Amino acid sequence: MTELTRQPKLELHLHLEGAAPPAFIRDMARKKSVDLSRIFEAQGNYAYRDFPDFLRVYEAACTVLTTPQDFHDLVLAVLEQSAAHGVIYSETFLSPDFCGGGDLLAWRDYLSAMDAAAEQAKARFGITLRGCVTCIRHFGPENARQIALCAQETAGGFITGFGIAGDESQFHPQDFAYAFDAAREAGLGLTAHAGEWGGPDSVRAALEHLGVSRIGHGVRAIEDSTLVDYLARAGVVLEVCPGSNVALGLYPDWTSHPVNKLRRAGVAVTISTDDPPFFHTTMTQEYQRLTQAFDWGENDFAAIAQTALAAAFCDADTRAEIAKTLEAT
Ligand code: ADE
Ligand code: ZN
Repeated sequence: MTELTRQPKLELHLHLEGAAPPAFIRDMARKKSVDLSRIFEAQGNYAYRDFPDFLRVYEAACTVLTTPQDFHDLVLAVLEQSAAHGVIYSETFLSPDFCGGGDLLAWRDYLSAMDAAAEQAKARFGITLRGCVTCIRHFGPENARQIALCAQETAGGFITGFGIAGDESQFHPQDFAYAFDAAREAGLGLTAHAGEWGGPDSVRAALEHLGVSRIGHGVRAIEDSTLVDYLARAGVVLEVCPGSNVALGLYPDWTSHPVNKLRRAGVAVTISTDDPPFFHTTMTQEYQRLTQAFDWGENDFAAIAQTALAAAFCDADTRAEIAKTLEAT
């Protein structure tokens, strides 16, 4: 185990289904006699051409996750991996769309299975998980209302956040204001994917219409220095996933990635993997690449962990417990 593996990490941006190891999905497909061979390449990894195709492959993989037990097992498998890379606190996006088709009663069953798995993972691997209910932008605003209802009805305890993922080119943040208002009223922390495939205006619109404290990705804010200054002054936290951005072709390589410039400009950045097996990454590998590309070291990673801790959607007791763990390591 390397120093970087051991470095304690907090991960705020992880899609549960997107973290499913390909072997896990293949196994489910075989058990359920579903032919998913088209979404895997010869070596057994997920195969996709570009971002829209990635979303299609992602959703195809989700079709074999059909029971609360499947999600229970997935949470355990994912958290074992995360913990092996030094993650002590994780927040994962959970989509009721993929857990019972957005039906509230079904969602409750899936949720209790995932919550139980998170408890087991805490006992076995020492990792704490919180859930962020997520609507999918390209499924549309009506659908998002239903997902917000699921979030509202199950807010508290394990569910601490609400977000939006999916195709940023579809609809406008304004269309999702109702869903975010409902989630805010339920006391949930708010985050939105923006500034990944959309430019600075997309980030501005998410902040203005959705009232989020965190932005998923947000890296294209770098294209507008006024916005960068605003993010720094307002303390908006970016959930940056550099390996994801490079793998999806948003930037040609790590040295071109703006994470270092954003941080040097005073923006609160955190580091996550997004959908690790899709992007052939792990939290350790993200840290290794940051070291190689920008010479980040132990002090930088300790500072990143504190930024993530302050931005985490968790209660004060959990925050204090994670702070203690960080102090002790
Ligand atoms: N869902 C899973 N990964 C995503 C990403 N990188 N952007 C938008 N939606 C996603
Ligand atoms: Zn994401």
